[in-house]
Amino acid sequence: MSGVFQRLQESVSEVKESATHKASEVATTNEKILDMYPNIVNVHQDKTMTTDFGIKINDADHWLKIVGKSGHGPSLLEDQIGRERIHRFDHERIPERVVHARGVGAHGYFKLHESIEGLTSAGILTDTSRTTPVFARFSTVAGSRGSADTVRDVRGFAVKFYTDEGNWDIVGNNIPVFFIQEDFKFPDFIHAVKPEPHNEIPQAQSAHNNFWDFQYLHPEATHMFTWAMSDRAIPRSLRMMQGFGVNTFTLIDKDGKRTFVKFHFIPELGVHSLVWDEALKLAGQDPDFHRRDLYEAIEAGSYPKWKFGIQCIADGDEDKFEFDILDATKVWPEDLIPVREIGEFVLNRNIDEFFSETEQVAFCTSHVVPGIGFSDDPLLQGRNFSYQDTQITRLGPNWEQLPINRPVCPVMNFNRDGAMNHRIHKGTVNYWPNRFEALPPGNYEGGRGQDHGAYTEYAEKIVGMKQRLNGEKFKEHYSQAQLFYNSLAPYEKMHVEMALGFELDHCDDPIVYKRMSQRLADIDLGLAQRVARMVGGDPPTETTHPNHGKKAPHLSQTEFPGKHTIATRRVAMIIADGFDLAAFEAVRAVLQAQGATTHVIAPRRGMIFPAGVDPESGTGGVMSDHHLEGQRSTMFDAIYVNPGVQSVLTLRGNGRAVHWIREAFGHLKTIGALDDAVDFVQQACSLPGVTLALDMKSDRVVTSYGVVTGWNVNVKLMPSAKIEPSETLWANAFINEISKHRCWERELEGLSKKLAY
Ligand code: HEM
Repeated sequence: MSGVFQRLQESVSEVKESATHKASEVATTNEKILDMYPNIVNVHQDKTMTTDFGIKINDADHWLKIVGKSGHGPSLLEDQIGRERIHRFDHERIPERVVHARGVGAHGYFKLHESIEGLTSAGILTDTSRTTPVFARFSTVAGSRGSADTVRDVRGFAVKFYTDEGNWDIVGNNIPVFFIQEDFKFPDFIHAVKPEPHNEIPQAQSAHNNFWDFQYLHPEATHMFTWAMSDRAIPRSLRMMQGFGVNTFTLIDKDGKRTFVKFHFIPELGVHSLVWDEALKLAGQDPDFHRRDLYEAIEAGSYPKWKFGIQCIADGDEDKFEFDILDATKVWPEDLIPVREIGEFVLNRNIDEFFSETEQVAFCTSHVVPGIGFSDDPLLQGRNFSYQDTQITRLGPNWEQLPINRPVCPVMNFNRDGAMNHRIHKGTVNYWPNRFEALPPGNYEGGRGQDHGAYTEYAEKIVGMKQRLNGEKFKEHYSQAQLFYNSLAPYEKMHVEMALGFELDHCDDPIVYKRMSQRLADIDLGLAQRVARMVGGDPPTETTHPNHGKKAPHLSQTEFPGKHTIATRRVAMIIADGFDLAAFEAVRAVLQAQGATTHVIAPRRGMIFPAGVDPESGTGGVMSDHHLEGQRSTMFDAIYVNPGVQSVLTLRGNGRAVHWIREAFGHLKTIGALDDAVDFVQQACSLPGVTLALDMKSDRVVTSYGVVTGWNVNVKLMPSAKIEPSETLWANAFINEISKHRCWERELEGLSKKLAY
């Protein structure tokens, strides 16, 4: 016995030691991480490989055979070690999630800033001294596990809070509404968006007949598809998107009072998106773009942070609105019901193993803690059944015992057995009531008396007819689609139009794109006419649902610029042999001091030599991170071209270098150039409509459509650069443009369209 105990202690302390090796890991350890320690096996140990049943393996390269003189011979079935290896490999896969199969997760914590004890008894929402561990998983909906990150799709935003009273899951999206009002239609909706059944095409795309056929036949989807065609569906980063619980939940206070609630997550870095051409290219150039971005940011200590907010409607006020507050195809407009920010959640720790954590994590909308309840939102009611059910197919009946899923508080009940049970229950009874009063429910008055911390449902009076129906207000489908569209900035509207143009162009059945062209008139007649002309539909001339012209706050992502920062932005610095070292070092220092990540790109990977350094010496250069073909401009937020006579000459003769700049211009990114690199931008790249600093005697900085150029810049002034516009300090102007994310004027004025990229 003592030997086993000692081994356990050793393994726990080994893991702890290795896991806490890095200072950052000590800082990010929380109750949930500690809970998982006994399950963590560190492969970097001074141990010999064993079988699953524990014996040491002698030869990990060869099957046991009868070997003749030739060195060949039949393999023997008796090789238990070989058979175990192959048999374990054969069963490595589990079914992928039926939706949201592709995802990425990380650990973190939730901190409450303001108690809402007047609304709920939930400890996590009332106790500001607590730090609650969380695990978040972000996902796309339609694609399979191996699909690309940057496809046009809704992003799942699922957060598991390991609270002292049990697990609470918010299984939300980055869009606040949904396609359908009833869970009943979910299988039809998912069948329609997934690859078509006859040929399994297309992968991870809504641009096909069946998806748009479904949209037309479900007018309730109009609001949601307008969001899905907006920039929300192509986020720049998972760290730069909002999260919404979508469904209507309830808060229950200690006296049993109920309040309707919606949950919100608002990213500190603002809400930002890719542009469509970039998203398309990235899907091939870096299918893991979002996954990598999240992982790298956390590794670098740039922990993504979201504010946590609630929208509340008092019990009794639910009928006061034009829309039904239980209809998941509607937002609660923020001019009517403001968001109250009460806490924040931070992701500060990457996973150790993808399968055990991100793949095996399982969320359920039905997982709420005392003080939080459901509503009669019909979509939520169905979800509460569906998630619990689907986890059994994917992970088996004991999925809640998996390390990533188990709560950090005690789990005590008489649920028993089933495949892969890991718990060993000690005791002579496995039922309630029992003569020992073992594991009583909260309301049991014997023994030690009632436990008032147990979950109690809100006592709701229900009178009604058993029918397949929803409320009258569920029948109105267009008003909020118009509200959303009207609230967008002009360039956002343009993107919705282009997205519809792209999607309907991919539908080759005329009934689909012609009918959809008509439906768009229920959002906006002008939009419908322009899209219809693009895709071969019949431009409508009138509509039965004229646009009401109203707007609401916080629907456009332009209202979420985030912190005024360039932190974590990726900037490519392009150089070639003969570059100006002083300028390079000064610009790199500025960018790094502001928290951006710099990436040196050159015609080759390796040492690149500045002007005045003899390449033969083999030293005194700068190591480039990538060559121009190895990475593309799509992977960066901004591009800087460094001066240097020879360097610029080389870049001018390199078509890929020219393409980098032109493509970055097309994708509306900030471009910076100094001294003779300005000539390169002018002569080789021919950027339409842009004014450049061409007077080499002047030290005036020119910022034109996000292109920031200057001569004779005093690099000594750079270290004190500030994010602000400037006509004299090039570094200030450059980082100021980067902080704006993109230069939308370039697109609005049609400049980006004039360029081939
Ligand atoms: C408000 C609308 C909805 C939202 C916001 C939503 C969100 C999500 C998210 C974020 C996930 C991925 C969870 C993870 O990261 O593991 C997911 C998975 C899933 N959802 Fe939904 N969903 C919605 C509607 C529905 C409906 C109506 C159903 C069925 C009636 C449904 C069934 C599922 C299933 C079966 C999974 C796979 C779960 C798993 O295997 O882990 N969802 N959903």
